This record gives sequence, structure tokens and C-alpha cells, in this order.
Amino acid sequence: MQRPIYLDCNATTPVDSRVLETMLPYFTEHFGNPSSVSHAYGWEAEAGVKQAREMIAKAINASPEEIIFTSGATEANNLAIKGVAEAYFSQGQHIITVATEHRAVLDPCLYLESLGFEVTFLAVDEDGLIDLDVLADSIRSDTILVSVMAANNEIGVLQPIQEIGRICREKEVFFHTDAAQALAKMPLDVEAMNIDLMSLTAHKIYGPKGIGALYVRRRHPRVRIASQIQGGGQERDLRSGTLYPPQIVGFGKAVELGLAEMDTEGERLQKLRDRAWEELSQLEGVYLNGHPNQRLSGNLNVSVAGVDGTALILGLQPVMAVSSGSACASQSTQPSHVIKALGRSDKLAHASIRMGMGRFTTAEEVDQAISHVITTIESLRKSQ
Ligand SMILES: Cc1ncc(COP(=O)(O)O)c(C=O)c1O
Repeated sequence: MQRPIYLDCNATTPVDSRVLETMLPYFTEHFGNPSSVSHAYGWEAEAGVKQAREMIAKAINASPEEIIFTSGATEANNLAIKGVAEAYFSQGQHIITVATEHRAVLDPCLYLESLGFEVTFLAVDEDGLIDLDVLADSIRSDTILVSVMAANNEIGVLQPIQEIGRICREKEVFFHTDAAQALAKMPLDVEAMNIDLMSLTAHKIYGPKGIGALYVRRRHPRVRIASQIQGGGQERDLRSGTLYPPQIVGFGKAVELGLAEMDTEGERLQKLRDRAWEELSQLEGVYLNGHPNQRLSGNLNVSVAGVDGTALILGLQPVMAVSSGSACASQSTQPSHVIKALGRSDKLAHASIRMGMGRFTTAEEVDQAISHVITTIESLRKSQ
């Protein structure tokens, strides 16, 4: 049986064979604990970790000691938001974020709200972008953190993080960005963009699952965070737990490859996506979700009028693997909070499909998938 065409790269990506090759020796030969400072096994593992840390730091123009390895972007977001809240609560208890953030940002914010913090959830316009004036006006004397994602996981929209960074720096408020979807897809520079904390993950860029990092600025200004996992004191005491060298070296390699191929891949994916949209937009009642250009090159998200959302996904399933709403919360039957935030009705939010194209997606696959989407929509409309 042929497997469906994989078009869910915003949910996760396969590990690149070059990444796997880099990881393998760290399971067996170089199995040491990087914290073991008294023998060669520890040194070898630490050397791999050091190299990956340097690679990841370089990718965002940070220094290696500003990278804290975590289990992924969920943990990095939790560490950033709760860590800053705990470290600075005596200076203020107001946080600003956006309605379209990933749950890994929204839920820690809601948790803090339950503890007495105040959170402003900024709205977005119909393209999914925040209003910078509203952001600036929302910053108060007791605001300690602004958290705005770089690229949205559902609709691919790129928020203007450079401008957001400038506003936050002027107002002397820390700026955190969830860059899980943006890493190695667009240039990220913590200095030029005035970013103070940044969440990263490996599995969206052909690295392994279960590994990510939080960038925490050390100077100009220094950001303090309270650790959320205490124990052996790894990662400068900010995130205890034995480091996992195979995952870490895989993350480093994935970043290296992603950066080297970022421009050519970006162009290729954009062409594929634009061609897919050109075809799909011929159908009546198919709406693009998110800004037409200010979005990730491999992301296409559409809402389809006149069809039932569940029937649509079931119709697509045998041929293509796509997701409806957020794959990270795909068990949810609630219409996507992101599509709803664009002003779409519940019905249109339900009948939305996200296609995420990536490194291994071919033009033939996209053509085949789009023609199946069109046939499915037409036949559902006839039968409903
Ligand atoms: C924007 C965004 N933030 C956070 C996450 C969670 O990342 P992780 O799976 O590494 O915990 C994801 C994806 O799942 C994401 O797309």
C-alpha cells in the first residue's frame, strides 16, 4: 500500500539521513556523560555538545553560553515565560502576548494569570499580523515581558519581529520570540532584532524530536530567569538533567544543513506553494488563511466554504497527510483558535487545511495532492 503524500512539515519533519549519521556514534561509541569531566568518554561527548552549541549560537548571532538545551520548544517557552515571570515578579506582573500563539505560549501565560499575573492577548488583523501601535500602547510600567512568535505554526505568518524588538528595547521590556517554525527558514539575529529570549526546536528542521533550546541574553541587557527544573545544575543551573548528546549533535547538524540550504530551499518551496495556491484559488469559496507573502515559504493554509471540515479531512486522508487546525493539538475538535482569530466563522475555521511542504516534497507530489484536494472539494459539494 502506498503511503499518503506527506504534507505536514509544520507538525514535524523526518530526520535527514545526514543528521542521523552525525547522531549515531553518540549512542554507542561516544556515549559518555558530557558532565563527566574526569575521563575521555565525558570529554568526547562534551566536544560534540560544544560544537552543536556553537553552531546553534552562530545561527542566531548569539554566543554559545547563551544557549540552554531543553526538550523542545514547549519547554523553552515555559522556561522563558515562567522563568522571567518568577525572576521579575517584584518589578511587575504584566505580560503581553498574541491570540494566535502556539498553546505552548498561551498555556504558560494562562497559568501565570491563574497565579495573579495579568496577560494582554493582542488581536491580529485578517492577515494574522499584530498592530505595532497597539503593541506599543499596551506596554505599561509593570510589563515585564512581550512574547510574540516569529512564524505561526498554522498559517505560517511572519510577525515583524525586528520592529517588535525595537519597540521592546525602547520601552525597556524583555522580548521573547517562539522561533520553532522560523529557525533555518528565515534569517534570525538576536542582536539586530533586539531579541532577549528565543525558543528553538530541532524536529521542524529535519532534526530529532525531543530536543530544543532557549536562547537567553547575557548582556545588554542581561536577562535573569528562574529555573523550572532543578537538579544536577547542568546548563548553568538553568535546566538540570543529563544532556542528551545524540539529540544535541543532531540538532546542531540540522541547523548547519538548514542554514546552508535556507535560500535555495526557500525559493523552491515558495514556487511550489504559489503554484498550489494558484490552482486551488481557481475554485470558488476557497480562502487563503494568513498574509499572502509575509509567511513561511512552505506553508499553505486554506479554508473551504460549503464542505464539512471532518468530511474534508477524511476525504483527503488516503492520498495526503495534512492537518486541520494545529497538528500539535490535533486531538482537539475545537475549531482552530488561530483561524478564528483571523475573523473566520467556526465553520470555515473547521473546514481548514494546512499543507506544509518541506525538503523532501517534490513538485509531482504537490500537483498530485492539489488535484486530489480539488476533486475532494467538488465531490463533497455535490453530495452535501
Ligand atoms: C510555534 C511552535 N511553538 C512550539 C512548538 C512546540 O515545539 P516542541 O514540539 O519542540 O515542543 C511548536 C510545534 O510543535 C510550534 O510550531
